[in-house]
Amino acid sequence: MKRVLSGITPSGDFTLGNYLGALRHWVSFQEDHDAFYCVVDLHALTTDIDPVVLRRNSLDAALNLLAVGLDPRRCTIFVQSHVPEHTRLTWLLECTATMGELRRMTQFKEKSHGQETVRAGLFTYPVLMAADILLYRADAVPVGEDQRQHLELARELALRFNNRYGETFTVPEAAVPGAAARVMDLQHPERKMSKSVESPLGTIGLLDPAEAITRKVRKAVTDTDGEVRYDRAAKPGLANLLDLLAGATDRTPQEVAKGYTRYGDLKHDVAEALSELLRPVRERRMALEDDLPYVDTVLAEGAAAAHEVAAPTYAKAADALGLLPLPSLARDED
Ligand code: TYM
Repeated sequence: MKRVLSGITPSGDFTLGNYLGALRHWVSFQEDHDAFYCVVDLHALTTDIDPVVLRRNSLDAALNLLAVGLDPRRCTIFVQSHVPEHTRLTWLLECTATMGELRRMTQFKEKSHGQETVRAGLFTYPVLMAADILLYRADAVPVGEDQRQHLELARELALRFNNRYGETFTVPEAAVPGAAARVMDLQHPERKMSKSVESPLGTIGLLDPAEAITRKVRKAVTDTDGEVRYDRAAKPGLANLLDLLAGATDRTPQEVAKGYTRYGDLKHDVAEALSELLRPVRERRMALEDDLPYVDTVLAEGAAAAHEVAAPTYAKAADALGLLPLPSLARDED
């Protein structure tokens, strides 16, 4: 069975972008892949986050992963910091990556732009992400469009390491969805819908009730030419709505556009489709709220299962580089 791995940062409330770009596909992959899904709490430390908030967000993230339909009997759900090999492999890969390639990462450029001080972790963030992926020898990584460049880096590091030190890592492929791979903010359609951007009207939350979804879609920014056609450059707001409906109904945005002559009708159907899509997620989430011991069990079992795969990969990489294996206790006792 082919393996997939993906991760999500517990840095705020999950959005419709997370769902359409990634989480929905994670659920499909668990059916026919050996799937590992990770709450990447260490990645959340690259910006200043209140420890109390991080703790709550990490638990919330795990609850949301169950709410979207991930089934711990079919996939492994775990927290990144529970598997120490993630940080251990990161160092080995930092010694494989170059400053130049990290400097080229657009997400680093965006996030560091205009900041007085930039944490070193923000700069090396994509290397930690590469470690997440390579530790599990993942064949495919289901992500939204914004993570494609990071995926390229993970591939490049795997290839470089393998060429220099011998076959160690699987070179992963990005699995980016055909529709809604880049969901844009409803109020600022030139920027990505994001959990870390303060844009209450522009962001649809994973757990938003139908009324909130309808209100936000109705107020979504479009344009004044009145023609329904898919043109991301000239009509970004409308294109985003078409993408959303396409993503929610498994069609292409061009196909979706053919059915409409009025923006109002399109908005009505987008709101309805999204509300229907997210309703079961909200319901499952409400049912789970009371069952924190269950979540703890899922995460404990997930950490053990993840460690079983991650530890031998780390050991192989360390050995390939010439690090001495841990002397065994048996030898110490001799
Ligand atoms: P994060 O937490 O920002 O997002 C989680 C997933 O959601 C996708 N996504 C979107 N897709 C479409 N439209 C959007 N507006 C949108 N916003 C987010 C992201 O592409 C992602 O797939 N660095 C990663 C987390 C990570 C990771 C990994 C991913 C850490 N290690 C290993 C894969 C494999 C991130 O910050 O994603």
